[in-house]
Amino acid sequence: MRFLSLLLVLFVATSSTSYAQILTSPNGKLTLVFSLNAAGIPQYDLQYADRPVLLPGKLGFTVKNGTEQLESGFSNPRYTYTKEDSYWQPVWGEERSIRNHYTEMLVSLNNGSRSINIRFRLFDDGLGFRYEFPKQDDLYCFVIEEELTEFNLASDAKTFWIPGDYDTNEYPYMTSKLSAIDTLMARATIEITAQHPIGSPSVQTPLMLKTDNGLYVNIHEAALIDYPAMQLNVDAQKHALSAHLVPDALGGKGDINAPTTSPWRTVVVAEDARDILASRIILNLNEPSKIEDTSWIKPTKYIGVWWEMFVGRGSWNYTNDYNVKLGQTDYTQVQPNTSHAARTEHVKRYIDFAAKHGFDQVLVEGWNIGWENWINPMREYVFDFVTPYPDFDVKELQHYAQDKGVRIMMHHETGAAATNYEHHIDTAFCFMKQHGYNAVKTGYVGWIKPKGEHHDSQWMVNHYIRVAEKAAQYGIMVNSHEAVRPTGLSRTYPNWLAQESARGSEFEAMGGLAPEHTTILPFTRLMGGPMDYTPGILRTIFSYYDPNNQGQARTTLAKQLAYYVTMYSPLQMAADLPENYEHFADAFQFIKDVAVDWDTTYYLEAEPGDYLTIARKTKGKEEWFVGGITDENSRTAIVDFSFLPKGKKYVATVYEDAKDADWKTNPMVYRIRQEKVDAKKRWKQKLAPGGGFAIHIVPDL
Ligand code: NOJ
Ligand code: CA
Repeated sequence: MRFLSLLLVLFVATSSTSYAQILTSPNGKLTLVFSLNAAGIPQYDLQYADRPVLLPGKLGFTVKNGTEQLESGFSNPRYTYTKEDSYWQPVWGEERSIRNHYTEMLVSLNNGSRSINIRFRLFDDGLGFRYEFPKQDDLYCFVIEEELTEFNLASDAKTFWIPGDYDTNEYPYMTSKLSAIDTLMARATIEITAQHPIGSPSVQTPLMLKTDNGLYVNIHEAALIDYPAMQLNVDAQKHALSAHLVPDALGGKGDINAPTTSPWRTVVVAEDARDILASRIILNLNEPSKIEDTSWIKPTKYIGVWWEMFVGRGSWNYTNDYNVKLGQTDYTQVQPNTSHAARTEHVKRYIDFAAKHGFDQVLVEGWNIGWENWINPMREYVFDFVTPYPDFDVKELQHYAQDKGVRIMMHHETGAAATNYEHHIDTAFCFMKQHGYNAVKTGYVGWIKPKGEHHDSQWMVNHYIRVAEKAAQYGIMVNSHEAVRPTGLSRTYPNWLAQESARGSEFEAMGGLAPEHTTILPFTRLMGGPMDYTPGILRTIFSYYDPNNQGQARTTLAKQLAYYVTMYSPLQMAADLPENYEHFADAFQFIKDVAVDWDTTYYLEAEPGDYLTIARKTKGKEEWFVGGITDENSRTAIVDFSFLPKGKKYVATVYEDAKDADWKTNPMVYRIRQEKVDAKKRWKQKLAPGGGFAIHIVPDL
């Protein structure tokens, strides 16, 4: 397929005028204007048809301790144009084939002593641009003081945001006017373990906006490699955003070794919210797979020894003696607690359950020594990733799982000691291969080691990629938690199946997630790539576990089913306990049936913060799934089945909220019904407050 893209580069032209230069998208609707102002500062603006999206905003850098800045004094830019129209096939995804269609303008700039290029790509659904630092004398290595990129919104906007933070993206979303962000910042910055809020008004990307002139705009980045993550300073009164790179331990904002490039800055623009979800700009701006043979990479459905730790039934740690030390503590001599979950016999019951119900893998957390004192800023050597607790028999479980046709999913919690993980990673991956594991869930809870670095700084950005690359060498798939949010890199490293990198299901057990949370995530966090959200909590009232536990998941049961369609991921967990799935066996059938890889996706209805209805066709199979969710308000969705092939009859099994369902007062009541459907069918589907529905469609034979 790659040769096709080359063939389709239609023309190349150059000119050298220094006047404002215009680039239009393939369909002519988006217009980008580049110019140099009187001080020779590069700037750009963006227009959608007759509506301004971004007003002129600066581009460039200040350089640390630099005598020459990459900021101003530029003159006589050179412009080079190209176009592209091609298709490529992802290893897995929301659709089988993706169109890469854009016009491109490369602006080459020089300010007397320094050169920098800016490459703009304009798609019908948005803009991507990046900086390129070409090979040149006297600018091999330098440290960025700040990237000056501005995104100056043309009007105020309804904004879906979380506070800027160098270390965590696990904040609940706020919805407010862009102009109100500064006054709400203190309230939004709730306490989270190992956080580092920026302090001045700032937000994280992907940032979702609905502008006062009726456009949906999403700002993020693509291909974040060897560079710090970009957060955004907010000038609330001017509706102006500007890059705020995450600093390293010494305060630098990126070590640059030319020739190299920055990540792409992305601005997706649409009149209809559904087109934001349908945008593939971020994937298109990433490089093709670096892994040649991808046959071992498989979309995966899994269960886990996991939720029981969140509902107070089990523990990761083996003993309640917290003063343990790796290499010194003899775990066979310590007093075991009674709650350790990763016990051989207990894990076997999960394997039995996975085998019986067709799951690929069983995640087991807390199998290895070190959990007694793992979140500790003073401790670097927390885990060795190869030594099991005395009650977890690695070999026996390997054979047991193998006999049942199931794999155990490895868990590598690093406690954010990335240095320690890198020291042990080869040994750890060899251990995995020896014992039949081909997927690892990594975790980065805590304060990063090397000290002073952040989850989102350049060193850590490179660490996550090193782990994905190293895993690929061993034939291992990766699911990272608490890592920097994704930027489409799963195209380049398709073994990096999913990430958490946002507030996920686990928070239902820690105070609860707002019912609107999952109507926002697809427009924010998921723009960069799949999320290991871990849905499927069917028993939503937690007093079941302990009469004193007043907690509950803030959804109906049917909404949890819908997540398997609305929260795209090639890695899906059925997060609840086997006993709860046995209890709700008929509803559980949907989780067993639902696919994890798709030929096509149809965005039927969408409004960030309010609702979503999505239909997907299973990859390589005549089968469809539909998921619909709403926020705290009840709603009537319109399900239009015209995505089905015409002239054929199908049977739809519908899992819906019962009439009196309500996330708060009556969440676990649902109805399952069957209906005949065809492409002409269209119906009204009722959703309870905090509710949802899920549909499975197969041919009527
Ligand atoms: C946080 C992760 O998100 C969660 O899934 C995991 O169980 C804990 N860390 C422990 O590693
Ligand atoms: Ca987490």
